[in-house]
Amino acid sequence: MIGYKVVVLGAGGVGKSALTVRFIQDIFLENYDPTIEEAYRRTISVDGELTSLEVLDTAGAEQFTSLNEVYIKAGKGFVLVFSLTQEASLKEVDNLRKQIYRIKGGEQGSIPIVVVGTKLDLMNEREVHRNTIQTLAMRWNLPFYETSSKKNWHISEVFEDLVRRMRKR
Ligand code: GTP
Ligand code: MG
Repeated sequence: MIGYKVVVLGAGGVGKSALTVRFIQDIFLENYDPTIEEAYRRTISVDGELTSLEVLDTAGAEQFTSLNEVYIKAGKGFVLVFSLTQEASLKEVDNLRKQIYRIKGGEQGSIPIVVVGTKLDLMNEREVHRNTIQTLAMRWNLPFYETSSKKNWHISEVFEDLVRRMRKR
């Protein structure tokens, strides 16, 4: 079976761990416990073919982001996470995206990356309009998803999309 390394990156508190744990274990992490580094495994079937994923949940906290370069070198695919309730977290996605292309040396669109806006269920706290992210994603030539780890909305789609992109590379 083919296996891929996926790295989950984004600012602190945006919901990287909640997303990862919802995908891996199908539970919602209600309490915020800042991550240092956590690795998970899961086998998924996409288009009738099994793929083994090693998912690395990284730290958003700045004192640990020096490790990002190491993670990016090791990763095949990337989930860039921001919170729909925190406009500033979108800027970090842009920084990470640039860092990935710089380190991997690829053309825009040549590396498997999916952009994810989290906390879709917190409608009253929403700060990032769909148009904003749609426009950015188009400019970046990247797919994007709006998700809720709490409600389990569109979580598996993120990883399935990424698997399809990794298979093509
Ligand atoms: P670091 O590990 O510090 O980088 O943070 P993180 O990005 O891993 O954030 P984490 O997943 O720990 O989530 C932070 C807080 O947001 C937690 O209290 C989660 O329960 C909450 N949260 C995450 N995703 C969602 C969501 O989809 N909906 C709601 N309502 N809350 C969420
Ligand atoms: Mg975390």
